[in-house]
Amino acid sequence: MSLESYDDCWLRYEPADGERRESYRTRCENVYASVGSPELGAVRDELRRAMTGLLEREPHLWQHPPRSVEGFLAVGTPDEMEMIADSVSTDRVAALGDGGFRIRSVEWEGAECVVVTASTDRGLVYGTFHLLRRMANGHPIDDLDVTEEPANHERVIDHWDDPFRRSVERGYAGPSIFDWERLPDLRERYVDYARLLASVGINGVVLNNVNTKIPGRGSANEFVSGKAGWQLLTQDGLEKVAALASVFRRYGVRPYLSVNYAAPMLIDDYDTADPLDPDVEEWWARKAEEVYDAIPDFGGFLVKADSEGQNGPYDYDRTHAEGANVLARALEPHGGRVWWRAFVYADHDDRAVQAYETFEPLDGEFLDNVTLQVKNGPIDFQPREPVSTLFGAMDGTDLACELQITQEYTGQGVHTCYLVPQWKEVLDFDTHASGEGSPAKDVFSGSEGAGIAGVGVVGEDPTWTGNYLSQANLYGFGRLAWDPDLDTETVTDEWVRQTFGGDPAVIDTVSGILHDSLPATVDYETGGLGLIHMMYNGEARLENHYDPSPAEWPGYHGATEDGIGIDRTSGGSGYVGQYHEPVAETYDDPETCPEELLLFFHHLPWEYELADGTTVVQRLYDNCFSGVEVVRDLRERWQALAGRIDDRRYRHVAERLEEQVVQAERWRDTLVAFFYEHSEIPDEHGRVPLTESNRAVPPRED
Ligand code: GCU
Repeated sequence: MSLESYDDCWLRYEPADGERRESYRTRCENVYASVGSPELGAVRDELRRAMTGLLEREPHLWQHPPRSVEGFLAVGTPDEMEMIADSVSTDRVAALGDGGFRIRSVEWEGAECVVVTASTDRGLVYGTFHLLRRMANGHPIDDLDVTEEPANHERVIDHWDDPFRRSVERGYAGPSIFDWERLPDLRERYVDYARLLASVGINGVVLNNVNTKIPGRGSANEFVSGKAGWQLLTQDGLEKVAALASVFRRYGVRPYLSVNYAAPMLIDDYDTADPLDPDVEEWWARKAEEVYDAIPDFGGFLVKADSEGQNGPYDYDRTHAEGANVLARALEPHGGRVWWRAFVYADHDDRAVQAYETFEPLDGEFLDNVTLQVKNGPIDFQPREPVSTLFGAMDGTDLACELQITQEYTGQGVHTCYLVPQWKEVLDFDTHASGEGSPAKDVFSGSEGAGIAGVGVVGEDPTWTGNYLSQANLYGFGRLAWDPDLDTETVTDEWVRQTFGGDPAVIDTVSGILHDSLPATVDYETGGLGLIHMMYNGEARLENHYDPSPAEWPGYHGATEDGIGIDRTSGGSGYVGQYHEPVAETYDDPETCPEELLLFFHHLPWEYELADGTTVVQRLYDNCFSGVEVVRDLRERWQALAGRIDDRRYRHVAERLEEQVVQAERWRDTLVAFFYEHSEIPDEHGRVPLTESNRAVPPRED
């Protein structure tokens, strides 16, 4: 725990094991690092902190190569450090993309050294964290020859703070860490947040919420809106953002702001925000200048338009390309970028078709500094959804994949639900856009303006994420955004070792719990056949999304006496036709559609037989029951760790798993009763409790 009493997450830097420690001391007790830029200040701070932990000795920091030492660590660019230029191929370093780095173990004038180098200072930050990760994982450092570049140029956290309310959109880890009233005064916690982000390669953070609507435009999200969206664009607001930027800059993280599309009206009383109005164009250009005067490395604007009550170009009969481009023109002279969300939904009967119908026809019409940010699935971060049809449909546009790190629909700050396997599935999904072997991840790594965005998870809670185990999702998000080819096991193993140390029993158990958690959640929250939106929403202003309440959502799961599921086939809403062949054909036929997505694409009779002869309704029952069994098992596996990890974290997770079991049972009981009521087909194992009380599980009181 650090002084302010919150967790260090994966940056604990526990002492290395004996033998390893000696070799680490030889090469890292003396550190020769450049000075001069904000990033290098951060590098030196991190090395001081990390080496003190790992080596159990404070390192000596030098501004020239130390003599008469057995070895040392050198961090800098070849331009600035001759010793480094002597040790690596300078051409190779110069060829590295922004953020790329090179690490080599070398002998230099008889000393055993490790060199961390890059062509940019930001690359040095990532290289340093990479070396520290290796050491925290107990890997040798005497034979290193590593070259890395980030696969995705943009790796952004949508933090989505509600300024001045101390809350975060879909934040389940307590109040916001940003104290806007006190900013520009800074807190140590901002530095630690930036460290966590940079350590996994994140290079942008959208500070404020996308829900920045004009009060009175009636939507369920009104309660989280308010004045936030435009306040930060005023002089006072920008001063606060500039203060945060000064912290993030040291770690190579650029700040972004969400803006309300009607900002000219809100801030300066314009009577229109029409993107084709010259006065509006000029307003945005002026605003961009003000922003860049205050924050020269500002990243750009994020916009949620024409969605859930937000303003947008449709207010003026303009397209989304016209809408985005006016902002893009304003940002372009400053090197800024517009992130335009594809989360638009109007009055379509099947919401799944909307994003593609809106944006695919606009391919090629967005300016070069516009990134279209698309949720991973067509609906909204459900435990399981098919992959968005826009990936692979817009060759002429920079796309970013939007993932949700915060667990809005997967147990919030309470349940253990490890999302890395879900994200891997999305990234590896073969769109077939250019024939077989066209994984979605290639779309996001394709160009400078493409990338990955994650809806943030961090709050003031001492755990940062509400549940210690949910830290793994933040870690995994960054690692995959940097390198989508990493496999889940590698990411999990890295996180567990850095977070809980090297005890093999702990590593096995925690990794196993994470591994099994997502399929269990999918089973007890959906029945595992592709159903979505089975959760409780409540009154418009509540939006609970934690408890079960399938009866609220007939349009999303399609349960009737005859069957269940939504017909999105060619004969139904036609959504399936937005995929390339042979994906479309595979999903279109219930015989070939993968079972886990079956009811997303098909409305089927309750007694429809699956490949192994089990009926749909029986499989739904079985999955709901087995999901609960797995969660009970996770709880027991965790309990076996008592005494093997510190009490604080042990008890915290144990308590949450207790709650998860209870909650999973509520989901199971509600869902199976719901399936039974519609199908009137009993569970063949006689497990479905058919009591009145079970049929009407009341929503939890908040
Ligand atoms: C969901 C979520 C909202 C969020 C929205 C979005 O609807 O519940 O809180 O604002 O997605 O992504 O914009």
